[in-house]
Amino acid sequence: MHYKLDILAEKGYVVLGDYDGKPIPSTEWESLEYMDWKSGGDTNFAPLASATGAMECRGFWDSGKADKFGVWTSNAAIAPGLIHYVEEIGGNYGRVRVIKLSPSDEPTALRQLHRDDNNRLNPDGTGWVVRSWLELDDTPGQSVFILREDKDDPATETRIRLHPGIQVVIDTERLWHVVWHPGPRPRYALITSWESDALIDNWIREHAASRRQLLEAVS
Ligand SMILES: [Fe+2]
Repeated sequence: MHYKLDILAEKGYVVLGDYDGKPIPSTEWESLEYMDWKSGGDTNFAPLASATGAMECRGFWDSGKADKFGVWTSNAAIAPGLIHYVEEIGGNYGRVRVIKLSPSDEPTALRQLHRDDNNRLNPDGTGWVVRSWLELDDTPGQSVFILREDKDDPATETRIRLHPGIQVVIDTERLWHVVWHPGPRPRYALITSWESDALIDNWIREHAASRRQLLEAVS
């Protein structure tokens, strides 16, 4: 058994308000070194923290580790604002990466619905690993996070409309998920694996979206 966050128990996700900290210039994610790594569509990933600090996207289990205690890669020096964002939250992060998602149509996106393997090698009695998203750049109003409890049952679906700055925390080992991004430009987002603990619980509660933000985002 792992420690899990009560705030994720009912739905498996929480929408946070927009990031209102130090602005992160787009030159940061545009300058990163991306690797060809397919997950959830036509994607490339820029690793900011990996299991060993090497520039690679593989699961931490390949290094004998749970998805925690990430080590900054050489990309980190290019993106001080993104690193600051993660370090300011202050929790135990594992994988930290920027995703670059190419546009697709809706049926193609739905075929990419998947669950993540976040907790392999995660010792019992420690915190369940969940993931946060910070949307960096897309075509505002165009991309949507599609979440399902049951992959084949659209009645279990939630859609979260995305825009730059929105933050979302998702138990992606529980929920099937994909982002449908119609484009035309690529979509960039910062994805961070977090160990569930009191600190992350507090961060989520402090930044939970207002009712108005929720009504705008969730359908
Ligand atoms: Fe995923």
